Amino acid sequence: MTAEIIDGKAFAATVRKKVAGHVAKLTEQHGITPGLAVVLVGEDPASQVYVRSKGKQTVEAGMSSYEHKLEAHTSEAELLALIDKLNADPAVHGILVQLPLPDHLNEDLVINAIDPAKDVDGFHISNVGLLGTGQKSMVPCTPLGCLMMLRDHHGSLSGMNAVVIGRSNIVGKPMAQLLLGDSCTVTIAHSRTKDIEEVARRADIVVAAVGRPEMVTGDWIKPGATVIDVGINRIDAPEKGEGKTRLVGDCHFDSCAEVAGAITPVPGGVGPMTIACLLANTVTACCRANGLPEPEGLTA
Ligand code: GUN
Repeated sequence: MTAEIIDGKAFAATVRKKVAGHVAKLTEQHGITPGLAVVLVGEDPASQVYVRSKGKQTVEAGMSSYEHKLEAHTSEAELLALIDKLNADPAVHGILVQLPLPDHLNEDLVINAIDPAKDVDGFHISNVGLLGTGQKSMVPCTPLGCLMMLRDHHGSLSGMNAVVIGRSNIVGKPMAQLLLGDSCTVTIAHSRTKDIEEVARRADIVVAAVGRPEMVTGDWIKPGATVIDVGINRIDAPEKGEGKTRLVGDCHFDSCAEVAGAITPVPGGVGPMTIACLLANTVTACCRANGLPEPEGLTA
């Protein structure tokens, strides 16, 4: 069997178009422009690329983008003062503090200082609790993107066996909650799981989010299963020339694609969906803040 490729790049474009449509309606009918504030502390090159991309796509969707670049030695008090200001700013509907933060800043403290209603990352402890108890919350962008692709591919996920590989707060745990919310039977596997290949082979849906290049191979996959690869790992590619690199996922694409029914590629799978969902969350937060109906199909 050769798997169907789930085209995250194309799907993300449709999500962004839907977001832009809602933004246009908010602006024309209500005079409201959703605003997203992104805070970057320090000069981590990968974070700089992400933040630039977020700002660009926010503006392309018709929303306001507010970028706050702070120096690496910024104190916790200064960062918290900025968050307080953004919490109080009615033009800002979403706030994202780019992670990782420099070591001297307490990430939990900073994230939990964000107004939960503006926490478009869904990392605030209140949103984590709301998601875990099946209440309306802001949902982390990467798992939300994975859920949208799975729903689009399968329709209902009810009764399916899902195995999430990885237990991070950003992806693994919220992904498991979302799949449970869609009535899957969910297993979270991780580095200490016994017979992990065997566990994965029972899954109708495998979500790999471990950050280990090409760890999941075709023999881990049940024939016909759907594989969602969240990993983005840069590895050496001597075959392309000296010093060259390439991006790979947490799944070994060729061997998994031979067995799976459907699979997301890297790049072009989950990655583009993350920013699309950030834009979706910003519109959702803006609608909630203004007591307006939420856009359909853009939330969990
Ligand atoms: N760094 C890597 N992924 C993320 C994310 O989803 N949100 C934030 N704020 N920082 C990140």
